Amino acid sequence: MSEPNRYEHAPRLPEGSLDPGALVGGPGQPVELEVGPGRGAFAFERLAAVPSARLIGFEIKRKWATIVDERLSQRGLGARGRVFFEDARIALPRFPENSVSIAYFHFPDPWWKKRHKKRLVLTPALLEELARVIVSRGELFVQTDVEERAFEYESMIGQHAEFRAAEREARVLQNPYQAMSPRERRAVQDGLPIFRLRYARV
Ligand SMILES: C[S@@+](CC[C@H](N)C(=O)[O-])C[C@H]1O[C@@H](n2cnc3c(N)ncnc32)[C@H](O)[C@@H]1O
Repeated sequence: MSEPNRYEHAPRLPEGSLDPGALVGGPGQPVELEVGPGRGAFAFERLAAVPSARLIGFEIKRKWATIVDERLSQRGLGARGRVFFEDARIALPRFPENSVSIAYFHFPDPWWKKRHKKRLVLTPALLEELARVIVSRGELFVQTDVEERAFEYESMIGQHAEFRAAEREARVLQNPYQAMSPRERRAVQDGLPIFRLRYARV
């Protein structure tokens, strides 16, 4: 007998027109967006550290979307933070323009071999959506431990007319958001290099 799906009730975005701010207690206000939060440490820490932050995550793993969304609620952060079981490539086009203040991509490369390139989440098509939804002077932050991917992201985002380096150069040494993703924390503990890119929407 097959076990019923324990995560059948995974949280989904509501149907119809969307006001992302309204999903996290700030109708009409831009939200922070995390693509692929995994086990959620960044969302927990970010919301705890910055009481004004409102954050939505899109996670394609049903189990982790459900667990992290539940934990946000259990930790008293559910009014300002939600994680939905959604594919960012499908969900983001549903966001209205100028609805995101900061978009985070922490280690979005589970498959770093060349043959897995087609599974990348941050593609030129998604970058177009980001240029549409991120507010003027909003931010796009990407970090990875795969140097080859960092070069590719840097080249792709650097060529986009709507983004410029947030500081003197796109590459930054530190994550300035007072929160770390699970993979980031592990890389720091293991002393592995992390390649971080930070852009502002012009
Ligand atoms: C390598 S893991 C990194 C997890 C976390 N960001 C971290 O830094 O520890 C990549 C995460 O992105 C999620 N993911 C991959 N493609 C996605 C997509 N199209 N939409 C939403 N999440 C996605 C995966 O399920 C996974 O949880």
